[in-house]
Amino acid sequence: MGPFAKILLLSICVAYIAVKWTAPSFDPESLRGARVLVTGASKGIGEQMAYHYGRFGAKIVITGRREKALQQVVERCLSLGAQKALYIAADMANESEPDKVVDFALEKLGGLDYLVLNHIGSSSFSMWEGDVEHTRWLMKVNFFSYIQMAWKALPSLEQNKGSLVIVSSVAGKMPSPFVAPYVATKSALNGFFGSLYHELALKKSNVSISICTLGLIDTESAMSKVKGLVKAPAYPATEAALNIIRTGATRQQELYYPWFTHIICVIRDWFPPLTNYLIQNSINYNP
Ligand SMILES: *[C@@H]1O[C@H](CO)[C@@H](O)[C@H](O)[C@H]1NC(C)=O
Ligand SMILES: *[C@@H]1O[C@H](CO)[C@@H](O)[C@H](O)[C@H]1NC(C)=O
Repeated sequence: MGPFAKILLLSICVAYIAVKWTAPSFDPESLRGARVLVTGASKGIGEQMAYHYGRFGAKIVITGRREKALQQVVERCLSLGAQKALYIAADMANESEPDKVVDFALEKLGGLDYLVLNHIGSSSFSMWEGDVEHTRWLMKVNFFSYIQMAWKALPSLEQNKGSLVIVSSVAGKMPSPFVAPYVATKSALNGFFGSLYHELALKKSNVSISICTLGLIDTESAMSKVKGLVKAPAYPATEAALNIIRTGATRQQELYYPWFTHIICVIRDWFPPLTNYLIQNSINYNP
C-alpha cells in the first residue's frame, strides 16, 4: 500500500470514529410500551427484531406470510417480556394487504410509534436470464408495499413523533452480480425514502426516517443461497437486528452494518477499478 492510500485509509477511519463518537446514545427504556409494527418477522432479521423489541417491553404487531411461524414468534415475544404481541399473516405482493396490515396494527395498538419495514420476497442468486415477471413481482413485494405502508402509517407516526425504519442493503448502493432484481428493489427504496427524508425535513415533520444498509447477514435463507458462491463474511442476524432498532430509536438517518459497508460505499465512487475488483472477486464463478 502506497503512502497516499495509507493516509486516505487513516482519514476515513478517523472520520468514521468521529461520526460514531457523536452518535446519540440509546436508551432501551424508551422502547417500553412503544407501539411497533415489524414486517417480515416470521424468520431472519425480522424475527430477531421482534425478540429484541419483546425484551425491551414493547407492544408489537408482526407480519409475514406463514401463520404458524408467526404464532411461535409471538409466543416467544410474550415470554421475553413484550407488553403485547400480535400477528397478522399477509402477502405483500397483494395490493390490498399492505394497507390491511397497517390498519390492523393501528387498531390493535391504538397507533404506531415505529414502522419497521423489513420483508423481502424470495429471489434466486444467479445471473439474470430475462425473467421480467419475477422482477415485477419482486418490485411489488420489496418496494411498492413499503411505500404503501409508509403512507398509510404516516398520520399516526406524525401524531406520535414516530419513526419509519427501512431495512435496505449494501446492494441498494452498489450493484452486484447475481442479484440484479434485488439490487433494483433496494436501489428504489434508497432513492424513494432518501427523497421522502428531505420532504419530511422541509415540512418540519415529527417523523424520523432511518435507512439501514446491511451487508451479508447469516440468516438461513441468505446462507442457503450464497453457499459456496460468495467469499464475503456473514454477520449475525441478532446483532444486525439490534443495530436497526437502536438506529430507529435514536432517530438516526442511516445505519451501516457491519461497519465496513460504510467504507465500501465511500470508496466506491473514488476508485471504480478497485470496487469492481472487490465485487467480482467476492464471487466464485467459472464460466
Ligand atoms: C388479496 O387479498 C385480499 C384480502 O386481503 C383477497 O380478498 C384477494 O383475493 C387477494 N388477491 C389476490 C390476487 O390474491
Ligand atoms: C407533531 O406532534 C405534535 C404533538 O406531538 C402535533 O401537535 C403536531 O401537529 C405534529 N406535527 C404534524 C406536522 O403533524
